[in-house]
Amino acid sequence: MWGLKNGALAGFAAAAFLAGSVAHGADQAAEQPANQPFAYIELDVPYVQTPDAVVARMLELADVQPSDFVYDLGSGDGRIAIAAVRDRKAKGAFGVEIDPKLVDEAGANARRQGVSDRVKFDVQDLFTTDFSRATVVTMYLLPDVNLKLRPTLLDMPAGTRVVSHQFDMGDWASDFHERQGRRNLYLWVVPAKLDGKWTLKQAQGDDLVLELDQRYQRFEGVASRGGTRHQIRDGWIRGKEVHFQLYAESGVHHYAGRVEGDTIVPLTGWGGEEGWQARR
Ligand SMILES: C[S@@+](CC[C@H](N)C(=O)[O-])C[C@H]1O[C@@H](n2cnc3c(N)ncnc32)[C@H](O)[C@@H]1O
Repeated sequence: MWGLKNGALAGFAAAAFLAGSVAHGADQAAEQPANQPFAYIELDVPYVQTPDAVVARMLELADVQPSDFVYDLGSGDGRIAIAAVRDRKAKGAFGVEIDPKLVDEAGANARRQGVSDRVKFDVQDLFTTDFSRATVVTMYLLPDVNLKLRPTLLDMPAGTRVVSHQFDMGDWASDFHERQGRRNLYLWVVPAKLDGKWTLKQAQGDDLVLELDQRYQRFEGVASRGGTRHQIRDGWIRGKEVHFQLYAESGVHHYAGRVEGDTIVPLTGWGGEEGWQARR
Protein backbone atom coordinates (compact mmCIF):
# COMPACT_ATOMS: atom_id res chain seq x y z
CA MET A 1 0.00 0.00 0.00
CA TRP A 2 1.23 3.50 -0.74
CA GLY A 3 -0.01 6.97 0.03
CA LEU A 4 0.90 10.49 -0.94
CA LYS A 5 2.23 13.01 1.53
CA ASN A 6 0.08 16.13 1.89
CA GLY A 7 0.23 18.25 -1.23
CA ALA A 8 2.19 15.66 -3.22
CA LEU A 9 -0.43 15.77 -5.93
CA ALA A 10 -0.20 19.52 -6.44
CA GLY A 11 1.20 20.44 -9.81
CA PHE A 12 0.59 17.17 -11.60
CA ALA A 13 -2.22 17.01 -14.11
CA ALA A 14 -4.86 14.73 -12.60
CA ALA A 15 -5.01 12.70 -15.78
CA ALA A 16 -1.30 11.95 -15.73
CA PHE A 17 -1.50 10.97 -12.08
CA LEU A 18 -4.43 8.65 -12.66
CA ALA A 19 -2.78 7.03 -15.66
CA GLY A 20 0.44 6.49 -13.76
CA SER A 21 0.36 6.08 -10.02
CA VAL A 22 -3.16 4.86 -9.36
CA ALA A 23 -2.79 2.13 -11.95
CA HIS A 24 0.49 1.14 -10.33
CA GLY A 25 -1.06 1.12 -6.84
CA ALA A 26 -3.88 -1.11 -8.05
CA ASP A 27 -1.31 -3.62 -9.40
CA GLN A 28 0.48 -3.61 -6.09
CA ALA A 29 -2.71 -4.29 -4.15
CA ALA A 30 -3.68 -7.12 -6.49
CA GLU A 31 -0.32 -8.85 -6.02
CA GLN A 32 -0.18 -8.58 -2.22
CA PRO A 33 -0.76 -11.99 -0.55
CA ALA A 34 -4.09 -11.87 1.31
CA ASN A 35 -2.63 -12.91 4.70
CA GLN A 36 0.19 -10.33 4.74
CA PRO A 37 -0.20 -6.76 5.95
CA PHE A 38 0.63 -4.02 3.47
CA ALA A 39 3.95 -2.26 3.83
CA TYR A 40 2.86 1.38 3.76
CA ILE A 41 5.03 3.64 1.59
CA GLU A 42 4.67 7.38 1.93
CA LEU A 43 5.44 9.03 -1.40
CA ASP A 44 6.56 12.64 -1.74
CA VAL A 45 5.68 12.47 -5.42
CA PRO A 46 3.25 10.22 -7.29
CA TYR A 47 4.59 7.84 -9.93
CA VAL A 48 4.24 9.37 -13.38
CA GLN A 49 6.62 8.43 -16.18
CA THR A 50 8.64 10.81 -18.32
CA PRO A 51 8.03 10.04 -22.02
CA ASP A 52 11.09 8.57 -23.75
CA ALA A 53 11.55 11.56 -26.08
CA VAL A 54 11.62 13.88 -23.07
CA VAL A 55 14.11 11.58 -21.30
CA ALA A 56 16.39 11.84 -24.34
CA ARG A 57 16.12 15.62 -24.35
CA MET A 58 16.82 15.86 -20.60
CA LEU A 59 20.04 13.89 -21.03
CA GLU A 60 20.97 15.99 -24.05
CA LEU A 61 20.43 19.22 -22.11
CA ALA A 62 22.63 17.88 -19.33
CA ASP A 63 25.19 17.01 -22.03
CA VAL A 64 25.74 13.57 -20.44
CA GLN A 65 29.14 12.21 -21.44
CA PRO A 66 30.99 8.91 -20.88
CA SER A 67 32.75 10.54 -17.92
CA ASP A 68 29.46 11.26 -16.12
CA PHE A 69 27.76 9.60 -13.19
CA VAL A 70 24.01 10.23 -13.31
CA TYR A 71 21.57 10.08 -10.38
CA ASP A 72 17.84 10.03 -11.02
CA LEU A 73 15.99 11.03 -7.86
CA GLY A 74 12.70 9.13 -7.76
CA SER A 75 13.64 6.75 -10.55
CA GLY A 76 10.32 4.97 -11.20
CA ASP A 77 10.83 2.22 -13.80
CA GLY A 78 14.45 3.32 -14.29
CA ARG A 79 14.06 4.82 -17.74
CA ILE A 80 16.24 7.91 -17.18
CA ALA A 81 19.12 6.07 -15.52
CA ILE A 82 18.97 3.30 -18.13
CA ALA A 83 18.94 5.75 -21.04
CA ALA A 84 21.91 7.61 -19.51
CA VAL A 85 24.16 4.54 -19.77
CA ARG A 86 22.55 2.95 -22.84
CA ASP A 87 22.21 6.00 -25.11
CA ARG A 88 24.69 8.53 -23.69
CA LYS A 89 27.29 5.97 -22.51
CA ALA A 90 27.50 7.48 -19.03
CA LYS A 91 30.06 5.57 -16.99
CA GLY A 92 27.39 4.84 -14.38
CA ALA A 93 23.87 5.70 -13.29
CA PHE A 94 21.98 5.27 -10.06
CA GLY A 95 18.24 5.35 -9.48
CA VAL A 96 16.94 6.29 -6.04
CA GLU A 97 13.38 5.10 -5.50
CA ILE A 98 11.28 4.62 -2.40
CA ASP A 99 8.90 2.04 -3.85
CA PRO A 100 10.52 -1.44 -3.79
CA LYS A 101 8.23 -2.71 -6.53
CA LEU A 102 9.50 -0.01 -8.89
CA VAL A 103 13.09 -0.76 -7.90
CA ASP A 104 12.55 -4.40 -8.89
CA GLU A 105 10.94 -3.32 -12.15
CA ALA A 106 13.81 -0.94 -12.93
CA GLY A 107 16.39 -3.65 -12.19
CA ALA A 108 14.57 -6.06 -14.53
CA ASN A 109 14.43 -3.36 -17.24
CA ALA A 110 18.18 -2.76 -16.90
CA ARG A 111 18.90 -6.50 -17.20
CA ARG A 112 16.63 -6.81 -20.24
CA GLN A 113 18.52 -3.96 -21.91
CA GLY A 114 21.93 -5.39 -21.06
CA VAL A 115 23.11 -2.45 -18.94
CA SER A 116 22.82 -3.81 -15.41
CA ASP A 117 26.61 -3.67 -14.98
CA ARG A 118 26.52 0.14 -15.16
CA VAL A 119 23.16 1.06 -13.63
CA LYS A 120 21.93 0.36 -10.11
CA PHE A 121 18.64 0.97 -8.35
CA ASP A 122 18.13 1.09 -4.64
CA VAL A 123 15.19 1.46 -2.29
CA GLN A 124 16.06 4.77 -0.70
CA ASP A 125 14.43 8.01 0.36
CA LEU A 126 15.75 10.75 -1.89
CA PHE A 127 15.92 13.11 1.11
CA THR A 128 18.38 10.90 2.98
CA THR A 129 20.40 9.59 0.04
CA ASP A 130 23.95 10.80 -0.44
CA PHE A 131 24.13 11.66 -4.15
CA SER A 132 27.22 13.86 -3.82
CA ARG A 133 29.22 11.79 -6.33
CA ALA A 134 26.75 12.57 -9.13
CA THR A 135 27.98 14.78 -11.95
CA VAL A 136 24.43 14.94 -13.34
CA VAL A 137 21.20 14.88 -11.31
CA THR A 138 17.86 14.32 -13.04
CA MET A 139 14.45 14.68 -11.47
CA TYR A 140 10.74 14.67 -12.17
CA LEU A 141 9.47 15.61 -8.76
CA LEU A 142 7.31 18.46 -7.43
CA PRO A 143 7.94 22.16 -6.72
CA ASP A 144 8.17 21.80 -2.94
CA VAL A 145 10.39 18.72 -3.24
CA ASN A 146 12.71 20.61 -5.61
CA LEU A 147 12.89 23.45 -3.10
CA LYS A 148 13.76 21.08 -0.25
CA LEU A 149 16.55 19.58 -2.38
CA ARG A 150 17.85 22.98 -3.50
CA PRO A 151 20.39 23.58 -0.66
CA THR A 152 21.91 20.12 -1.21
CA LEU A 153 22.09 20.68 -4.96
CA LEU A 154 23.70 24.10 -4.52
CA ASP A 155 26.32 22.49 -2.29
CA MET A 156 27.40 20.04 -4.99
CA PRO A 157 30.69 20.61 -6.83
CA ALA A 158 30.61 23.53 -9.26
CA GLY A 159 29.70 22.33 -12.72
CA THR A 160 27.27 19.60 -11.61
CA ARG A 161 24.31 19.66 -14.00
CA VAL A 162 20.76 19.38 -12.70
CA VAL A 163 17.86 18.75 -15.06
CA SER A 164 14.25 18.89 -13.96
CA HIS A 165 11.23 17.77 -15.90
CA GLN A 166 8.36 20.16 -15.36
CA PHE A 167 9.19 21.99 -12.13
CA ASP A 168 11.56 24.83 -11.41
CA MET A 169 13.68 25.68 -8.38
CA GLY A 170 11.92 28.82 -7.12
CA ASP A 171 14.13 31.90 -7.27
CA TRP A 172 17.18 29.89 -8.37
CA ALA A 173 16.58 30.72 -12.04
CA SER A 174 17.55 28.00 -14.48
CA ASP A 175 20.51 28.44 -16.82
CA PHE A 176 18.32 27.12 -19.60
CA HIS A 177 14.61 26.46 -20.01
CA GLU A 178 12.58 25.12 -22.88
CA ARG A 179 9.05 23.94 -23.47
CA GLN A 180 8.19 20.65 -25.10
CA GLY A 181 4.47 21.03 -25.72
CA ARG A 182 2.89 21.15 -22.23
CA ARG A 183 6.12 20.11 -20.60
CA ASN A 184 8.89 22.29 -19.19
CA LEU A 185 12.53 21.28 -19.08
CA TYR A 186 15.01 23.13 -16.89
CA LEU A 187 18.79 22.97 -16.66
CA TRP A 188 20.93 24.38 -13.86
CA VAL A 189 24.71 24.25 -13.66
CA VAL A 190 25.79 24.39 -10.01
CA PRO A 191 27.71 27.67 -9.68
CA ALA A 192 31.10 27.98 -8.00
CA LYS A 193 30.99 29.82 -4.68
CA LEU A 194 32.34 33.33 -5.11
CA ASP A 195 30.67 35.14 -2.25
CA GLY A 196 33.08 37.10 -0.05
CA LYS A 197 36.55 38.56 -0.34
CA TRP A 198 39.14 37.98 -3.06
CA THR A 199 42.47 39.65 -3.82
CA LEU A 200 42.96 40.34 -7.49
CA LYS A 201 46.59 40.70 -8.63
CA GLN A 202 47.00 42.42 -11.97
CA ALA A 203 49.89 42.30 -14.41
CA GLN A 204 50.56 45.95 -13.49
CA GLY A 205 49.46 48.15 -10.64
CA ASP A 206 48.36 47.50 -7.09
CA ASP A 207 46.18 44.62 -5.98
CA LEU A 208 42.43 45.06 -5.92
CA VAL A 209 40.34 43.74 -3.05
CA LEU A 210 37.07 42.33 -4.39
CA GLU A 211 34.04 41.98 -2.15
CA LEU A 212 31.50 39.89 -3.98
CA ASP A 213 27.85 39.42 -3.18
CA GLN A 214 26.60 36.26 -4.87
CA ARG A 215 23.05 35.11 -5.40
CA TYR A 216 22.99 31.72 -7.14
CA GLN A 217 24.76 32.21 -10.50
CA ARG A 218 24.73 36.04 -10.39
CA PHE A 219 26.91 38.41 -8.42
CA GLU A 220 27.92 42.03 -8.01
CA GLY A 221 30.32 43.78 -5.70
CA VAL A 222 32.99 46.34 -5.09
CA ALA A 223 36.68 46.41 -6.02
CA SER A 224 38.87 48.62 -3.76
CA ARG A 225 42.38 49.91 -4.21
CA GLY A 226 43.64 52.32 -1.56
CA GLY A 227 40.73 54.65 -0.96
CA THR A 228 39.19 54.11 -4.41
CA ARG A 229 36.18 51.88 -4.91
CA HIS A 230 34.93 50.57 -8.24
CA GLN A 231 31.65 48.85 -8.94
CA ILE A 232 31.57 45.24 -10.12
CA ARG A 233 28.48 44.53 -12.17
CA ASP A 234 26.91 41.93 -14.42
CA GLY A 235 28.73 39.07 -12.71
CA TRP A 236 27.61 35.62 -13.76
CA ILE A 237 28.87 32.12 -13.09
CA ARG A 238 28.30 28.98 -15.10
CA GLY A 239 29.79 26.11 -13.15
CA LYS A 240 33.43 27.18 -12.74
CA GLU A 241 33.34 29.86 -15.42
CA VAL A 242 33.08 33.44 -14.17
CA HIS A 243 32.47 36.75 -15.93
CA PHE A 244 32.18 40.28 -14.56
CA GLN A 245 32.65 43.94 -15.49
CA LEU A 246 34.73 46.31 -13.41
CA TYR A 247 33.74 49.97 -13.76
CA ALA A 248 36.93 52.06 -13.33
CA GLU A 249 37.83 55.65 -14.29
CA SER A 250 39.75 54.21 -17.24
CA GLY A 251 36.63 52.50 -18.56
CA VAL A 252 34.74 49.23 -18.21
CA HIS A 253 37.03 46.21 -17.91
CA HIS A 254 35.78 42.70 -18.65
CA TYR A 255 37.14 39.80 -16.65
CA ALA A 256 36.58 36.19 -17.72
CA GLY A 257 37.98 33.49 -15.51
CA ARG A 258 37.81 29.96 -14.25
CA VAL A 259 37.55 29.06 -10.57
CA GLU A 260 40.15 26.52 -9.49
CA GLY A 261 39.66 25.95 -5.78
CA ASP A 262 40.68 29.18 -4.04
CA THR A 263 42.00 30.78 -7.21
CA ILE A 264 40.42 32.38 -10.27
CA VAL A 265 42.59 32.23 -13.39
CA PRO A 266 41.92 34.18 -16.60
CA LEU A 267 40.13 32.52 -19.49
CA THR A 268 41.59 33.22 -22.88
CA GLY A 269 39.54 33.89 -25.99
CA TRP A 270 37.03 36.28 -24.39
CA GLY A 271 38.84 39.50 -25.22
CA GLY A 272 38.98 40.37 -21.53
CA GLU A 273 41.75 41.44 -19.16
CA GLU A 274 44.89 39.34 -19.21
CA GLY A 275 47.68 38.51 -16.78
CA TRP A 276 45.59 38.69 -13.61
CA GLN A 277 44.78 36.16 -10.91
CA ALA A 278 42.40 36.31 -7.95
CA ARG A 279 42.88 34.43 -4.68
CA ARG A 280 40.73 33.99 -1.59
C1 LIG B 1 7.03 11.54 -11.16
S1 LIG B 1 7.80 9.99 -10.81
C2 LIG B 1 9.22 10.06 -11.87
C3 LIG B 1 9.72 8.69 -12.29
C4 LIG B 1 10.92 8.73 -13.24
N1 LIG B 1 12.02 9.53 -12.69
C5 LIG B 1 10.52 9.30 -14.57
O1 LIG B 1 10.78 10.51 -14.78
O2 LIG B 1 9.94 8.58 -15.39
C6 LIG B 1 8.46 10.28 -9.17
C7 LIG B 1 9.01 9.03 -8.50
O3 LIG B 1 9.51 9.40 -7.22
C8 LIG B 1 9.25 8.32 -6.32
N2 LIG B 1 9.30 8.89 -4.97
C9 LIG B 1 8.35 9.57 -4.31
N3 LIG B 1 8.77 9.95 -3.09
C10 LIG B 1 10.06 9.50 -2.99
C11 LIG B 1 11.06 9.59 -1.98
N4 LIG B 1 10.84 10.23 -0.82
N5 LIG B 1 12.26 9.01 -2.20
C12 LIG B 1 12.52 8.36 -3.37
N6 LIG B 1 11.61 8.24 -4.37
C13 LIG B 1 10.39 8.81 -4.18
C14 LIG B 1 7.89 7.82 -6.74
O4 LIG B 1 7.66 6.49 -6.30
C15 LIG B 1 8.00 7.93 -8.26
O5 LIG B 1 8.48 6.74 -8.83
